[in-house]
Amino acid sequence: MQRFENKVVLVTGAGSGIGKASAARVAAEGGSVFCVDLNAQALEATVAEIVSAGGEATARVCDVGDEASVQACVAECVAHYGSLYALVNMAGILRFDDTEQLQTAHWQKVIDINLTGTMLLCRAVLPHLLESGGSIINAASTAALSGLPCGVAYSASKGGVLAMTRSIAVEYAKRGVRANCVCPGDIKTGMTDDVGFPETMDWDLLPRIMSISGAKGPEVMAGVIAMLASADGIHITGEDIRVDGGTLS
Ligand SMILES: NC(=O)c1ccc[n+]([C@@H]2O[C@H](COP(=O)([O-])OP(=O)(O)OC[C@H]3O[C@@H](n4cnc5c(N)ncnc54)[C@H](O)[C@@H]3O)[C@@H](O)[C@H]2O)c1
Repeated sequence: MQRFENKVVLVTGAGSGIGKASAARVAAEGGSVFCVDLNAQALEATVAEIVSAGGEATARVCDVGDEASVQACVAECVAHYGSLYALVNMAGILRFDDTEQLQTAHWQKVIDINLTGTMLLCRAVLPHLLESGGSIINAASTAALSGLPCGVAYSASKGGVLAMTRSIAVEYAKRGVRANCVCPGDIKTGMTDDVGFPETMDWDLLPRIMSISGAKGPEVMAGVIAMLASADGIHITGEDIRVDGGTLS
């Protein structure tokens, strides 16, 4: 089934993990993918893999926290492909800090990329999604739904993404644009490979973020994201889908 035939999907965070797996899945289902990331080399690899599998993809380096870059990036996507059907907004960063030692600059960076960056993309694509009747899939987290030890900045950013997405869903529902979140948990990616914890981390609390059935690869997210972005998700908006192997069940 080619659910994305003649459809253009912009994927942020396409250089790694869930964004990369989603880009590959959309391309495998016939879509043209506009891949966005901060990491040029990683983006190149994503596009090369999609093209060698017979798919269509283009890449653009962009810092999602930079307003002018985001505007230019979305304009380039629409100029290149002529339309936009979905935004898969996966770019993000994770850091753990002891709350009493959390530096304001570190808090701000997480908020700038994870929350403000997510909003900048949503705002820039909406005029195009109104034309195509398309949708947005934002990356929230299980950390938006349950406390994350030493994760004050990250969980605040993801809680904001969840609330913002519901508001967009309600504001645009009558106009045919949908907005949903995925809440991944314990997905093996670059983000979870490379985590630094503060010395004060209480390891007894870590099982709170571990999946009961074991960590899984990013492809388990890609299928859910493709469903939400496609016509199969046509009556789903303002929803957050937890994909965490039962962590919060
Ligand atoms: N992996 C998990 O278990 C998990 C759990 C909950 C939520 N999430 C969320 O899912 C999304 C994808 O995470 P992932 O696990 O695939 O991580 P990842 O680190 O593998 O991929 C994130 C990508 O975002 C890019 N990026 C970072 N900052 C950027 C910026 N300013 N501009 C553009 N690109 C930028 C990185 O270069 C990277 O390629 C993130 O928003 C993350 O917070 C992941």
